[in-house]
Amino acid sequence: MSATSSVAQLGDSPRRRYYAGRDLRRVRDVGDLRAMAHRRMPRFVLEYLEGGAEREQSLQRDRAAYDEWRFVPRQLVDVSRRSLAAQLLGRMAPMPLVVAPTGLNGLFVHHGDVELAKASARAGVPFVQSTMSNDRMEDVGRVPGLRHWWQLYLFGGEEVWQELLRRADAAGCEALLLTTNAQIFGRREWSARTRVGRSRPSLQTIVDAALHPRWIASTLVAGGGLPAFANVVDFVPRDQRGFFETAFWIRDHQPQSMDWASVARIRQRWRRPFLLKGLLHEDDVRRALDAGVDGIVLGTHGGRQLDSCVSALDVLPAARRIVGGRMAIYASGGVRCGTDLLKALALGADAVLAGRAPLYGLCAAGAAGAAKALELLHGEAHDALGLLGANSVGELGPRFLARLGATAALPATICG
Ligand SMILES: Cc1cc2nc3c(=O)[nH]c(=O)nc-3n(C[C@H](O)[C@H](O)[C@H](O)COP(=O)(O)O)c2cc1C
Repeated sequence: MSATSSVAQLGDSPRRRYYAGRDLRRVRDVGDLRAMAHRRMPRFVLEYLEGGAEREQSLQRDRAAYDEWRFVPRQLVDVSRRSLAAQLLGRMAPMPLVVAPTGLNGLFVHHGDVELAKASARAGVPFVQSTMSNDRMEDVGRVPGLRHWWQLYLFGGEEVWQELLRRADAAGCEALLLTTNAQIFGRREWSARTRVGRSRPSLQTIVDAALHPRWIASTLVAGGGLPAFANVVDFVPRDQRGFFETAFWIRDHQPQSMDWASVARIRQRWRRPFLLKGLLHEDDVRRALDAGVDGIVLGTHGGRQLDSCVSALDVLPAARRIVGGRMAIYASGGVRCGTDLLKALALGADAVLAGRAPLYGLCAAGAAGAAKALELLHGEAHDALGLLGANSVGELGPRFLARLGATAALPATICG
């Protein structure tokens, strides 16, 4: 796997490659974990992991928005005692990062949710378990030291979410995230092209999967076939409980009538921290304040839902101006390195959600790989904080940033 070309190269010289072997000690950044994941996973799994909706403009914007902001560092600051530690919903964490909810983690490795939870616990950051996860929430909740949050998709009748929240309560989930931007499933054509019809893998997909024996061993053989949707399968009719059938049945039974009244009902029922995930519009940020939620996650669902959207980063400064200190704002989408984390914080986020970055690690080497991704993000952000001339995340602000395309010296280009 080659790196993208750099100004440090003359054509393809010196020849640069991400590390794609099996030795985690040789991994230098999330790009290496991604290369390892690409070697290990079959094409249909990679399309599910990497892909976005339609022309993938939202997906692309999530990354491009980070690239548009550049640092303006301070020098000669004593940064010998700096720390990334921050409050997340009232409790300290070693860094302001949350592992995002991702469905179908069992497709990457057997017990993918438990593995990701173990890595999160090791890093001291919360893990949000998806409604479409493959391990039972009670099993994930038993991971020692885990800050366990639950992500809710509405489907079926009210009794379904009532029951899921009862279980999340009993499993000790600390917070609830309601996903607001996925009641209509995004049109992910690249992923769909790996199948014939809705649920049958194409012949090419089957042949390609057969050529990935390590994935077959760690997923299909270890799990005895494709994973079940352990937390929701009981709500699905018996003849629809196959892997693809369940996914499509749930998709077909998501109420497109979900609205602010639904939020109010859930708020009434769930008394612990409650966040809305997937907002982008300023008016929705205001409504979230009125709805009495504890926080919002700005983002595009990793570019997998509505295409051609702005990114979380684009709307973050305005959202912060609206909210002030009244509720938490998290940014999701495009975080691949420590400097991304610092940029989001400087633009007003309390924390970021990282989806694909820890998943690359999970695909590469299970819990150890995901832990490596989180360790790398922490190490990079810690170094960058010092290089920026700051000692804590509380010191970060727009004064450390300039937007490309305008001259850094012009104050008007510096947000805030
Ligand atoms: C493979 C995959 C599965 C996802 N599944 C869910 C999900 O079940 N529920 C949800 O709210 N968001 C889901 N998301 C969106 C993530 O929670 C998060 O918003 C997104 O991944 C952030 O972008 P990033 O991957 O660039 O970090 C998923 C994302 C990916 C990549």
